[in-house]
Amino acid sequence: MPVLLYLLPLLLLLLVFGLAVICSDAAALVPNVEHPTNCIESERMALLDFKKNIIDPYNNLSSWVGHACCSWDGVQCDNTTGNIVGLALGQHGSVIFHLQGGEISPTLLSLQHLNYLDLSGNDFRGTNVPSFISHFKDLKYLNLARAGFGGPVPSSFGNLSSLQTLDLSYNDGVYVDDAAHQWLSHLTSLQHLVFSGVTFSSHSSNSLFLALNKLPSINEIRLSECQLQSIPPSIPHLNFSSLLVLDLSFNSINFSVSPWVFNLKSLEYLDLSNNIFGSSISADYLSSNFSTDIAKGVGNLCNLKTLDLSDSNMGMRLAELNFTGCIKDSLQLICI
Ligand SMILES: *[C@@H]1O[C@H](CO)[C@@H](O)[C@H](O)[C@H]1NC(C)=O
Ligand SMILES: *[C@@H]1O[C@H](CO)[C@@H](O)[C@H](O)[C@H]1NC(C)=O
Ligand SMILES: *[C@@H]1O[C@H](CO)[C@@H](O)[C@H](O)[C@H]1NC(C)=O
Ligand SMILES: *[C@@H]1O[C@H](CO)[C@@H](O)[C@H](O)[C@H]1NC(C)=O
Ligand SMILES: *[C@@H]1O[C@H](CO)[C@@H](O)[C@H](O)[C@H]1NC(C)=O
Ligand SMILES: *[C@@H]1O[C@H](CO)[C@@H](O)[C@H](O)[C@H]1NC(C)=O
Ligand SMILES: *[C@@H]1O[C@H](CO)[C@@H](O)[C@H](O)[C@H]1NC(C)=O
Repeated sequence: MPVLLYLLPLLLLLLVFGLAVICSDAAALVPNVEHPTNCIESERMALLDFKKNIIDPYNNLSSWVGHACCSWDGVQCDNTTGNIVGLALGQHGSVIFHLQGGEISPTLLSLQHLNYLDLSGNDFRGTNVPSFISHFKDLKYLNLARAGFGGPVPSSFGNLSSLQTLDLSYNDGVYVDDAAHQWLSHLTSLQHLVFSGVTFSSHSSNSLFLALNKLPSINEIRLSECQLQSIPPSIPHLNFSSLLVLDLSFNSINFSVSPWVFNLKSLEYLDLSNNIFGSSISADYLSSNFSTDIAKGVGNLCNLKTLDLSDSNMGMRLAELNFTGCIKDSLQLICI
């Protein structure tokens, strides 16, 4: 049978080729420990659903095709289980995903092992901060900065007990309601709170500080441009024992009324610029006394490297600040 003999190599070739095709299909369907570029099908479908509901004018998600979703741009998988653990679709330096959207589809919740979610720098066109995010129980990092969100910070975020970083800065009208202390004090792992540009009522700012004072690991608080008229005059059992960074700049806080910020001994960075010190009425007289008080107060902040008190209604008097105490040894930068 010369014809068959002649075809044999071709048949073998087809057989091998065919097997190879079947193998790669099978591998794409099964989460594979040795090849973590394959992802779990339900999670892949959730990503495609997210993509479908979003406008991607620059085709930044062009790699989101095929089966190997662990190698799609911005997708991070666990190497051993194949679960998606991170979505890094935010702004890093000059690199921005220019995604636009309204509602984010809650099918994203299929990513049950997500611990990192960065959507910063995109434009969600004023839709509310999605409260379904509170169901990502493993979430450690949440960055929704400059993403065009609006509405209240959902109090259900209090369920994110693993959260270490929460950044909601500079959105479109995000605000915190009055019961902030009830949910924020549940974020027991929180280290970095970046709420600059978020709006607070005076009542909500009081409850915010009472809540933050209960968090054992908080080391960075940024509340610039929050329209804060006041912060609590005093805090019972003032703690903040690991606080390194405090930014309260560009508010209308009268620090003569709330001098406790000068008792936060662990601080390395303190920005109180563009607020109110002393009185605008008889500025010279009162502020000269108050500058002496500040000099005494911050004198004991032995770790402080940066102090910004600029444009705060103190005029040239601050130029006469005569620091005493250990701050003299630590301070590297002062702006007045
Ligand atoms: C997973 O694999 C990537 C790429 O090989 C590697 O950079 C990363 O360190 C690994 N992660 C873990 C947790 O092993
Ligand atoms: C998205 O596309 C724009 C336009 O091509 C580009 O400038 C930008 O860097 C892209 N972003 C990412 C994250 O790839
Ligand atoms: C946490 O989630 C449960 C169930 O969804 C809800 O009833 C509860 O109010 C949430 N807790 C907070 C602090 O939001
Ligand atoms: C301050 O917080 C730490 C850590 O949670 C705690 O151990 C300490 O007892 C607290 N101190 C006061 C005065 O509440
Ligand atoms: C700030 O508080 C001090 C002390 O209560 C007060 O004398 C001063 O008038 C206040 N300054 C302004 C601008 O309200
Ligand atoms: C301001 O300081 C002067 C001189 O130390 C003192 O006589 C005066 O009572 C102080 N004023 C206030 C309001 O504390
Ligand atoms: C600064 O304070 C010290 C100690 O109180 C004092 O001896 C010194 O004269 C003061 N210097 C100025 C320029 O006021």
